[in-house]
Amino acid sequence: MKYKKSFDINKKLHTLIPGGSHTYSKGEDQFPYNSPRVMSHAKGAYTWDLDGNKFIDWAMGNRVFILGHAFDEVDNAVIKAIKNGTNYTRPGILEYEVADYLINNHFENKFDMVKFGKNGSDVTTAAIKLARAYTGRKYILVCASHPFFSIHDWFIGSTDMNCGTVDTERDYTLKFIYNDRESVEKVFEEYKDQIAGIILEPVKNDSLYLNASENDYHLETIKQKDNSSDNNFLQYLRKKADKEGSVLIFDEMISGMRFDTKGAHSLYDVYPDLSTFGKSVSNGYSCSFLVGKKEIMELGGLKHSKERVFLLSQTHGSETVGLSALLATLKACKKHDVSNHIWKIGKKLKEDFNQLVNKENASEYFRIIGFDANPQILCTHKDGIFWPELHTFFHDKVINNGVFIPWITITYSHKEEHIKLTMDAIKKAIKELKPLIENNEVRKLLVGEAVKPVFRKYN
Ligand SMILES: Cc1ncc(COP(=O)(O)O)c(C=O)c1O
Repeated sequence: MKYKKSFDINKKLHTLIPGGSHTYSKGEDQFPYNSPRVMSHAKGAYTWDLDGNKFIDWAMGNRVFILGHAFDEVDNAVIKAIKNGTNYTRPGILEYEVADYLINNHFENKFDMVKFGKNGSDVTTAAIKLARAYTGRKYILVCASHPFFSIHDWFIGSTDMNCGTVDTERDYTLKFIYNDRESVEKVFEEYKDQIAGIILEPVKNDSLYLNASENDYHLETIKQKDNSSDNNFLQYLRKKADKEGSVLIFDEMISGMRFDTKGAHSLYDVYPDLSTFGKSVSNGYSCSFLVGKKEIMELGGLKHSKERVFLLSQTHGSETVGLSALLATLKACKKHDVSNHIWKIGKKLKEDFNQLVNKENASEYFRIIGFDANPQILCTHKDGIFWPELHTFFHDKVINNGVFIPWITITYSHKEEHIKLTMDAIKKAIKELKPLIENNEVRKLLVGEAVKPVFRKYN
Protein backbone atom coordinates (compact mmCIF):
# COMPACT_ATOMS: atom_id res chain seq x y z
CA MET A 1 0.00 0.00 0.00
CA LYS A 2 1.06 3.63 -0.55
CA TYR A 3 0.80 6.19 2.25
CA LYS A 4 2.15 9.34 0.61
CA LYS A 5 -0.63 11.81 1.49
CA SER A 6 -0.91 10.42 4.99
CA PHE A 7 2.87 10.79 5.60
CA ASP A 8 2.82 14.40 4.28
CA ILE A 9 -0.02 15.47 6.57
CA ASN A 10 1.52 13.61 9.52
CA LYS A 11 4.67 15.76 9.17
CA LYS A 12 2.55 18.92 9.21
CA LEU A 13 0.49 17.63 12.14
CA HIS A 14 3.63 17.44 14.27
CA THR A 15 4.32 21.13 13.61
CA LEU A 16 0.82 22.05 14.79
CA ILE A 17 -0.13 19.50 17.48
CA PRO A 18 2.29 18.13 20.11
CA GLY A 19 2.64 14.42 19.37
CA GLY A 20 0.79 14.91 16.08
CA SER A 21 -2.28 13.34 17.64
CA HIS A 22 -4.84 13.99 20.37
CA THR A 23 -4.38 10.63 22.08
CA TYR A 24 -1.01 9.05 22.84
CA SER A 25 -2.26 5.61 21.86
CA LYS A 26 -2.94 6.91 18.34
CA GLY A 27 0.63 8.26 18.01
CA GLU A 28 3.23 7.01 15.55
CA ASP A 29 5.30 5.36 18.31
CA GLN A 30 2.39 2.94 18.77
CA PHE A 31 2.21 1.72 15.15
CA PRO A 32 4.58 0.29 12.53
CA TYR A 33 6.45 2.84 10.40
CA ASN A 34 4.98 1.37 7.26
CA SER A 35 1.32 2.10 7.99
CA PRO A 36 -1.22 4.89 7.47
CA ARG A 37 -0.82 7.95 9.69
CA VAL A 38 -3.96 9.90 8.93
CA MET A 39 -7.45 8.55 8.30
CA SER A 40 -10.16 10.13 6.18
CA HIS A 41 -13.42 8.31 6.94
CA ALA A 42 -15.07 5.17 8.31
CA LYS A 43 -18.31 3.21 8.01
CA GLY A 44 -19.48 0.01 9.71
CA ALA A 45 -16.45 -2.25 10.23
CA TYR A 46 -14.25 -0.39 7.73
CA THR A 47 -11.96 2.63 7.77
CA TRP A 48 -10.11 4.44 4.95
CA ASP A 49 -6.88 6.42 5.06
CA LEU A 50 -6.02 9.64 3.27
CA ASP A 51 -4.53 7.76 0.32
CA GLY A 52 -7.76 5.81 -0.22
CA ASN A 53 -6.57 2.51 1.28
CA LYS A 54 -9.38 0.50 2.89
CA PHE A 55 -8.99 -1.51 6.11
CA ILE A 56 -11.14 -3.72 8.31
CA ASP A 57 -11.06 -1.81 11.59
CA TRP A 58 -10.99 -3.90 14.78
CA ALA A 59 -9.63 -1.02 16.86
CA MET A 60 -12.53 1.42 16.46
CA GLY A 61 -10.72 4.56 17.62
CA ASN A 62 -9.92 4.19 21.28
CA ARG A 63 -12.66 1.56 21.61
CA VAL A 64 -15.36 4.18 21.17
CA PHE A 65 -17.83 2.14 19.13
CA ILE A 66 -20.16 -0.68 20.07
CA LEU A 67 -22.39 -0.64 16.98
CA GLY A 68 -19.82 0.28 14.33
CA HIS A 69 -18.71 3.47 12.60
CA ALA A 70 -21.38 5.97 11.50
CA PHE A 71 -24.28 3.77 12.67
CA ASP A 72 -27.48 5.20 11.18
CA GLU A 73 -29.80 4.67 14.19
CA VAL A 74 -27.49 6.74 16.37
CA ASP A 75 -26.57 9.35 13.78
CA ASN A 76 -30.26 9.96 12.98
CA ALA A 77 -31.10 10.46 16.67
CA VAL A 78 -28.27 13.02 16.92
CA ILE A 79 -29.42 14.89 13.82
CA LYS A 80 -32.96 15.03 15.22
CA ALA A 81 -31.69 16.33 18.58
CA ILE A 82 -29.49 19.10 17.20
CA LYS A 83 -32.43 20.58 15.29
CA ASN A 84 -33.85 21.47 18.73
CA GLY A 85 -30.68 23.25 19.87
CA THR A 86 -27.75 21.70 21.68
CA ASN A 87 -27.44 23.47 25.04
CA TYR A 88 -29.93 25.42 27.17
CA THR A 89 -29.85 27.89 30.07
CA ARG A 90 -31.56 25.40 32.44
CA PRO A 91 -31.46 21.59 32.28
CA GLY A 92 -32.91 20.21 29.03
CA ILE A 93 -35.67 17.61 28.98
CA LEU A 94 -33.25 15.12 27.42
CA GLU A 95 -31.16 15.17 30.64
CA TYR A 96 -34.20 13.95 32.53
CA GLU A 97 -35.19 11.41 29.87
CA VAL A 98 -31.71 9.86 29.63
CA ALA A 99 -31.21 9.81 33.43
CA ASP A 100 -34.64 8.26 33.94
CA TYR A 101 -33.98 5.62 31.27
CA LEU A 102 -30.57 4.76 32.74
CA ILE A 103 -31.58 4.50 36.38
CA ASN A 104 -35.11 3.12 36.20
CA ASN A 105 -34.94 1.05 33.05
CA HIS A 106 -31.42 0.22 31.96
CA PHE A 107 -29.82 -0.36 35.38
CA GLU A 108 -33.11 -1.53 36.96
CA ASN A 109 -32.42 0.66 40.02
CA LYS A 110 -29.16 -1.09 40.90
CA PHE A 111 -27.81 2.49 41.06
CA ASP A 112 -29.75 5.52 42.35
CA MET A 113 -28.27 8.54 40.62
CA VAL A 114 -26.26 9.53 37.53
CA LYS A 115 -24.04 12.41 36.49
CA PHE A 116 -22.94 12.97 32.88
CA GLY A 117 -19.50 13.93 31.56
CA LYS A 118 -17.80 14.06 28.17
CA ASN A 119 -14.72 11.83 28.68
CA GLY A 120 -13.94 8.84 30.86
CA SER A 121 -11.45 10.83 32.92
CA ASP A 122 -14.21 13.26 33.93
CA VAL A 123 -16.14 10.53 35.68
CA THR A 124 -13.30 8.48 37.18
CA THR A 125 -11.87 11.66 38.73
CA ALA A 126 -15.33 12.62 39.96
CA ALA A 127 -15.69 9.17 41.56
CA ILE A 128 -12.35 9.61 43.37
CA LYS A 129 -13.41 13.02 44.67
CA LEU A 130 -16.72 11.63 45.92
CA ALA A 131 -14.98 8.71 47.64
CA ARG A 132 -12.70 11.13 49.48
CA ALA A 133 -15.54 13.47 50.40
CA TYR A 134 -17.79 10.63 51.59
CA THR A 135 -15.18 8.91 53.75
CA GLY A 136 -13.19 11.98 54.85
CA ARG A 137 -10.03 10.01 53.88
CA LYS A 138 -7.26 10.86 51.39
CA TYR A 139 -5.72 7.66 49.99
CA ILE A 140 -6.94 5.91 46.85
CA LEU A 141 -6.15 2.29 46.08
CA VAL A 142 -5.67 1.82 42.33
CA CYS A 143 -5.29 -1.44 40.44
CA ALA A 144 -1.70 -1.50 39.15
CA SER A 145 -2.50 -4.31 36.69
CA HIS A 146 -4.75 -2.01 34.67
CA PRO A 147 -3.09 0.61 32.52
CA PHE A 148 -5.20 3.75 32.61
CA PHE A 149 -7.89 5.44 34.66
CA SER A 150 -7.67 9.19 34.05
CA ILE A 151 -5.71 12.01 32.47
CA HIS A 152 -5.81 13.78 35.86
CA ASP A 153 -2.90 14.01 38.29
CA TRP A 154 -4.20 11.64 41.00
CA PHE A 155 -3.56 8.92 38.37
CA ILE A 156 -0.96 10.34 35.91
CA GLY A 157 1.19 11.32 38.91
CA SER A 158 1.46 7.62 39.76
CA THR A 159 2.84 6.62 36.31
CA ASP A 160 6.36 6.85 34.84
CA MET A 161 5.22 9.85 32.77
CA ASN A 162 4.50 12.07 35.76
CA CYS A 163 6.45 15.18 34.74
CA GLY A 164 4.43 18.28 35.68
CA THR A 165 2.54 16.60 38.53
CA VAL A 166 3.27 17.19 42.21
CA ASP A 167 4.01 14.84 45.13
CA THR A 168 0.98 15.98 47.07
CA GLU A 169 -1.24 14.41 44.37
CA ARG A 170 0.71 11.24 43.62
CA ASP A 171 1.61 10.42 47.23
CA TYR A 172 -2.03 9.58 47.94
CA THR A 173 -2.32 7.02 45.13
CA LEU A 174 -1.50 3.50 46.31
CA LYS A 175 -1.46 0.34 44.18
CA PHE A 176 -2.56 -3.28 44.35
CA ILE A 177 -2.33 -6.23 41.96
CA TYR A 178 -5.43 -7.76 40.36
CA ASN A 179 -6.49 -11.08 41.88
CA ASP A 180 -3.73 -10.79 44.48
CA ARG A 181 -5.49 -10.53 47.83
CA GLU A 182 -2.26 -10.26 49.75
CA SER A 183 -1.40 -7.04 47.91
CA VAL A 184 -4.78 -5.60 48.97
CA GLU A 185 -4.50 -6.78 52.57
CA LYS A 186 -0.99 -5.34 52.89
CA VAL A 187 -2.06 -1.82 51.87
CA PHE A 188 -5.12 -1.85 54.12
CA GLU A 189 -2.96 -2.94 57.02
CA GLU A 190 -0.39 -0.22 56.41
CA TYR A 191 -2.98 2.54 55.82
CA LYS A 192 -5.60 1.46 58.36
CA ASP A 193 -8.74 3.68 58.21
CA GLN A 194 -7.12 5.95 55.62
CA ILE A 195 -8.24 4.46 52.29
CA ALA A 196 -11.11 6.38 50.74
CA GLY A 197 -11.73 4.13 47.75
CA ILE A 198 -10.63 1.23 45.58
CA ILE A 199 -10.73 1.66 41.80
CA LEU A 200 -10.26 -1.05 39.17
CA GLU A 201 -11.63 -2.35 35.92
CA PRO A 202 -13.85 -5.20 37.14
CA VAL A 203 -12.57 -7.53 34.43
CA LYS A 204 -9.56 -7.38 32.20
CA ASN A 205 -7.69 -10.23 30.63
CA ASP A 206 -5.97 -11.03 33.89
CA SER A 207 -7.75 -13.86 35.67
CA LEU A 208 -10.61 -13.09 38.01
CA TYR A 209 -10.62 -16.41 39.86
CA LEU A 210 -8.00 -18.23 41.82
CA ASN A 211 -6.94 -21.14 39.57
CA ALA A 212 -8.69 -19.67 36.48
CA SER A 213 -8.87 -21.65 33.25
CA GLU A 214 -9.60 -20.76 29.61
CA ASN A 215 -13.24 -21.74 30.31
CA ASP A 216 -13.62 -18.76 32.63
CA TYR A 217 -13.34 -16.49 29.60
CA HIS A 218 -16.59 -17.78 28.03
CA LEU A 219 -20.00 -16.23 28.67
CA GLU A 220 -21.69 -19.59 29.34
CA THR A 221 -19.19 -20.44 32.08
CA ILE A 222 -19.54 -17.04 33.72
CA LYS A 223 -23.30 -17.48 33.81
CA GLN A 224 -23.08 -21.01 35.25
CA LYS A 225 -20.45 -20.30 37.87
CA ASP A 226 -21.32 -19.55 41.50
CA ASN A 227 -19.99 -16.01 41.64
CA SER A 228 -21.04 -15.49 45.22
CA SER A 229 -18.14 -17.71 46.30
CA ASP A 230 -15.01 -16.20 47.79
CA ASN A 231 -13.12 -17.60 44.82
CA ASN A 232 -14.27 -14.52 42.92
CA PHE A 233 -11.97 -11.52 43.36
CA LEU A 234 -14.75 -8.96 42.91
CA GLN A 235 -16.76 -10.55 45.74
CA TYR A 236 -13.67 -10.43 47.90
CA LEU A 237 -13.16 -6.71 47.14
CA ARG A 238 -16.84 -5.95 47.82
CA LYS A 239 -16.57 -7.53 51.27
CA LYS A 240 -13.21 -5.90 51.96
CA ALA A 241 -14.48 -2.40 51.03
CA ASP A 242 -17.53 -2.88 53.29
CA LYS A 243 -15.40 -4.08 56.17
CA GLU A 244 -12.92 -1.21 55.86
CA GLY A 245 -15.50 1.52 55.15
CA SER A 246 -13.99 2.31 51.72
CA VAL A 247 -15.91 3.14 48.55
CA LEU A 248 -15.70 0.48 45.82
CA ILE A 249 -15.47 1.93 42.29
CA PHE A 250 -15.64 -0.16 39.12
CA ASP A 251 -14.33 1.54 36.00
CA GLU A 252 -16.44 0.06 33.20
CA MET A 253 -15.00 2.26 30.44
CA ILE A 254 -13.89 -0.75 28.37
CA SER A 255 -15.74 -3.67 29.97
CA GLY A 256 -19.10 -1.90 30.28
CA MET A 257 -21.21 -2.31 27.15
CA ARG A 258 -19.10 -5.08 25.62
CA PHE A 259 -19.35 -7.66 28.43
CA ASP A 260 -22.87 -6.49 29.19
CA THR A 261 -24.51 -3.12 28.60
CA LYS A 262 -25.23 -3.01 32.35
CA GLY A 263 -21.53 -3.38 33.05
CA ALA A 264 -19.39 -6.50 33.36
CA HIS A 265 -20.02 -6.52 37.11
CA SER A 266 -23.69 -7.36 36.51
CA LEU A 267 -22.63 -10.71 34.99
CA TYR A 268 -20.92 -11.55 38.28
CA ASP A 269 -23.67 -10.12 40.44
CA VAL A 270 -21.22 -7.91 42.35
CA TYR A 271 -22.25 -4.27 42.66
CA PRO A 272 -19.90 -1.36 43.38
CA ASP A 273 -20.81 1.85 45.22
CA LEU A 274 -19.89 3.92 42.17
CA SER A 275 -19.34 2.93 38.56
CA THR A 276 -17.97 4.85 35.58
CA PHE A 277 -18.90 4.38 31.93
CA GLY A 278 -17.66 6.09 28.76
CA LYS A 279 -15.99 5.27 25.45
CA SER A 280 -18.53 3.27 23.42
CA VAL A 281 -21.66 4.21 25.43
CA SER A 282 -22.58 6.81 22.83
CA ASN A 283 -21.11 5.02 19.80
CA GLY A 284 -18.43 7.51 18.87
CA TYR A 285 -19.99 10.69 20.23
CA SER A 286 -18.68 12.30 23.38
CA CYS A 287 -20.49 11.20 26.53
CA SER A 288 -19.56 9.48 29.78
CA PHE A 289 -21.42 8.92 33.02
CA LEU A 290 -20.97 8.15 36.69
CA VAL A 291 -23.65 6.11 38.46
CA GLY A 292 -23.86 5.27 42.12
CA LYS A 293 -25.53 5.17 45.48
CA LYS A 294 -27.61 8.17 46.48
CA GLU A 295 -25.87 8.74 49.83
CA ILE A 296 -22.56 9.26 47.98
CA MET A 297 -23.76 10.91 44.76
CA GLU A 298 -26.02 13.41 46.52
CA LEU A 299 -22.92 15.00 48.15
CA GLY A 300 -22.57 16.77 44.78
CA GLY A 301 -26.16 18.01 45.02
CA LEU A 302 -28.22 20.72 46.70
CA LYS A 303 -30.39 18.54 48.96
CA HIS A 304 -28.08 17.99 51.93
CA SER A 305 -26.58 20.01 54.76
CA LYS A 306 -23.01 18.63 54.63
CA GLU A 307 -20.00 20.37 53.08
CA ARG A 308 -20.54 20.97 49.34
CA VAL A 309 -18.66 18.82 46.77
CA PHE A 310 -17.90 20.32 43.34
CA LEU A 311 -19.05 17.38 41.25
CA LEU A 312 -18.66 17.62 37.47
CA SER A 313 -20.07 21.03 36.68
CA GLN A 314 -19.20 21.30 32.99
CA THR A 315 -20.23 23.76 30.28
CA HIS A 316 -20.77 20.93 27.80
CA GLY A 317 -21.78 18.26 30.33
CA SER A 318 -25.36 18.02 29.16
CA GLU A 319 -25.23 19.13 25.51
CA THR A 320 -27.69 17.15 23.49
CA VAL A 321 -25.36 15.54 20.93
CA GLY A 322 -23.76 13.19 23.47
CA LEU A 323 -26.96 12.55 25.40
CA SER A 324 -29.08 11.74 22.34
CA ALA A 325 -26.30 9.46 21.06
CA LEU A 326 -26.14 7.71 24.44
CA LEU A 327 -29.87 7.02 24.54
CA ALA A 328 -29.97 5.83 20.92
CA THR A 329 -26.93 3.59 21.49
CA LEU A 330 -28.41 1.93 24.58
CA LYS A 331 -31.70 1.31 22.77
CA ALA A 332 -29.96 -0.06 19.66
CA CYS A 333 -27.83 -2.38 21.82
CA LYS A 334 -30.98 -3.79 23.40
CA LYS A 335 -32.88 -4.07 20.10
CA HIS A 336 -30.01 -5.92 18.34
CA ASP A 337 -28.87 -7.97 21.38
CA VAL A 338 -25.40 -6.55 20.82
CA SER A 339 -23.67 -8.05 23.89
CA ASN A 340 -24.46 -11.59 22.76
CA HIS A 341 -23.26 -10.76 19.25
CA ILE A 342 -19.96 -9.51 20.69
CA TRP A 343 -19.38 -12.63 22.80
CA LYS A 344 -20.19 -14.83 19.77
CA ILE A 345 -17.93 -13.00 17.30
CA GLY A 346 -15.10 -12.87 19.86
CA LYS A 347 -15.35 -16.59 20.50
CA LYS A 348 -15.20 -17.37 16.79
CA LEU A 349 -12.28 -14.97 16.28
CA LYS A 350 -10.34 -16.71 19.05
CA GLU A 351 -11.17 -20.19 17.74
CA ASP A 352 -10.17 -19.34 14.18
CA PHE A 353 -6.97 -17.62 15.32
CA ASN A 354 -5.97 -20.60 17.47
CA GLN A 355 -6.72 -23.02 14.64
CA LEU A 356 -4.60 -20.95 12.28
CA VAL A 357 -1.54 -20.55 14.51
CA ASN A 358 -1.63 -24.24 15.40
CA LYS A 359 -1.75 -25.19 11.73
CA GLU A 360 1.13 -22.82 10.95
CA ASN A 361 3.11 -24.15 13.92
CA ALA A 362 3.38 -20.62 15.26
CA SER A 363 1.36 -20.74 18.49
CA GLU A 364 4.41 -20.00 20.65
CA TYR A 365 4.85 -16.64 18.94
CA PHE A 366 1.32 -15.53 18.08
CA ARG A 367 -1.30 -15.90 20.79
CA ILE A 368 -4.83 -14.74 21.40
CA ILE A 369 -5.85 -14.44 25.02
CA GLY A 370 -8.65 -13.23 27.25
CA PHE A 371 -12.41 -13.01 27.47
CA ASP A 372 -14.33 -13.81 24.30
CA ALA A 373 -15.90 -10.35 24.56
CA ASN A 374 -12.52 -8.66 24.73
CA PRO A 375 -9.77 -10.78 23.17
CA GLN A 376 -6.22 -9.62 22.71
CA ILE A 377 -3.51 -10.73 20.28
CA LEU A 378 -0.02 -11.06 21.75
CA CYS A 379 3.22 -11.49 19.83
CA THR A 380 5.69 -13.12 22.17
CA HIS A 381 9.03 -14.80 22.49
CA LYS A 382 8.84 -18.57 22.94
CA ASP A 383 8.65 -18.13 26.73
CA GLY A 384 5.50 -15.98 26.45
CA ILE A 385 7.21 -12.61 27.09
CA PHE A 386 5.96 -9.73 24.92
CA TRP A 387 8.19 -9.21 21.85
CA PRO A 388 7.83 -5.57 20.71
CA GLU A 389 9.74 -6.06 17.41
CA LEU A 390 7.64 -9.06 16.42
CA HIS A 391 4.46 -7.23 17.46
CA THR A 392 5.40 -4.28 15.25
CA PHE A 393 6.42 -6.46 12.30
CA PHE A 394 3.21 -8.52 12.61
CA HIS A 395 1.04 -5.41 12.55
CA ASP A 396 3.06 -3.96 9.64
CA LYS A 397 2.23 -7.10 7.64
CA VAL A 398 -1.41 -7.33 8.73
CA ILE A 399 -2.11 -3.64 8.10
CA ASN A 400 -0.56 -3.93 4.66
CA ASN A 401 -2.91 -6.86 4.07
CA GLY A 402 -5.85 -4.53 4.84
CA VAL A 403 -6.57 -5.15 8.53
CA PHE A 404 -6.18 -2.83 11.53
CA ILE A 405 -6.08 -4.97 14.67
CA PRO A 406 -3.69 -3.28 17.18
CA TRP A 407 -6.32 -3.99 19.82
CA ILE A 408 -9.71 -5.66 19.40
CA THR A 409 -12.99 -3.82 19.79
CA ILE A 410 -15.77 -6.01 18.48
CA THR A 411 -18.92 -4.16 17.38
CA TYR A 412 -22.30 -5.09 15.97
CA SER A 413 -20.89 -4.26 12.51
CA HIS A 414 -18.25 -6.99 12.76
CA LYS A 415 -19.59 -10.18 11.18
CA GLU A 416 -18.16 -13.60 10.35
CA GLU A 417 -17.11 -12.38 6.88
CA HIS A 418 -14.72 -9.92 8.57
CA ILE A 419 -13.22 -12.72 10.65
CA LYS A 420 -12.57 -14.70 7.48
CA LEU A 421 -10.84 -11.75 5.75
CA THR A 422 -8.85 -11.05 8.92
CA MET A 423 -7.65 -14.64 9.18
CA ASP A 424 -6.52 -14.51 5.53
CA ALA A 425 -4.46 -11.40 6.33
CA ILE A 426 -3.01 -12.95 9.49
CA LYS A 427 -2.17 -16.19 7.70
CA LYS A 428 -0.16 -14.30 5.06
CA ALA A 429 1.64 -12.32 7.77
CA ILE A 430 2.58 -15.42 9.75
CA LYS A 431 3.80 -17.25 6.66
CA GLU A 432 6.14 -14.33 5.90
CA LEU A 433 7.30 -13.86 9.49
CA LYS A 434 7.90 -17.48 10.47
CA PRO A 435 11.18 -17.80 8.48
CA LEU A 436 12.40 -14.47 9.91
CA ILE A 437 11.77 -15.75 13.43
CA GLU A 438 13.59 -18.98 12.68
CA ASN A 439 16.56 -17.12 11.13
CA ASN A 440 16.67 -14.54 13.92
CA GLU A 441 16.03 -11.70 11.44
CA VAL A 442 13.00 -9.98 12.97
CA ARG A 443 14.91 -6.98 14.38
CA LYS A 444 17.20 -6.69 11.35
CA LEU A 445 14.45 -6.59 8.76
CA LEU A 446 11.83 -4.55 10.62
CA VAL A 447 11.39 -1.17 8.92
CA GLY A 448 11.40 1.61 11.53
CA GLU A 449 11.35 1.29 15.30
CA ALA A 450 9.39 -1.14 17.46
CA VAL A 451 6.38 0.23 19.36
CA LYS A 452 7.10 1.77 22.77
CA PRO A 453 5.04 1.98 25.97
CA VAL A 454 3.00 5.20 26.28
CA PHE A 455 3.96 5.67 29.94
CA ARG A 456 7.72 6.19 29.63
CA LYS A 457 9.93 8.95 31.00
CA TYR A 458 11.64 10.02 27.74
CA ASN A 459 10.81 9.82 24.02
C1 LIG B 1 -10.30 1.91 31.81
C2 LIG B 1 -10.24 3.35 31.42
N1 LIG B 1 -10.65 4.28 32.28
C3 LIG B 1 -10.62 5.60 31.98
C4 LIG B 1 -10.17 6.03 30.77
C5 LIG B 1 -10.14 7.49 30.46
O1 LIG B 1 -11.09 7.78 29.48
P1 LIG B 1 -10.96 9.08 28.55
O2 LIG B 1 -9.77 8.88 27.66
O3 LIG B 1 -12.25 9.11 27.82
O4 LIG B 1 -10.77 10.25 29.45
C6 LIG B 1 -9.73 5.09 29.81
C7 LIG B 1 -9.22 5.52 28.50
O5 LIG B 1 -8.58 4.83 27.77
C8 LIG B 1 -9.76 3.71 30.16
O6 LIG B 1 -9.35 2.77 29.31
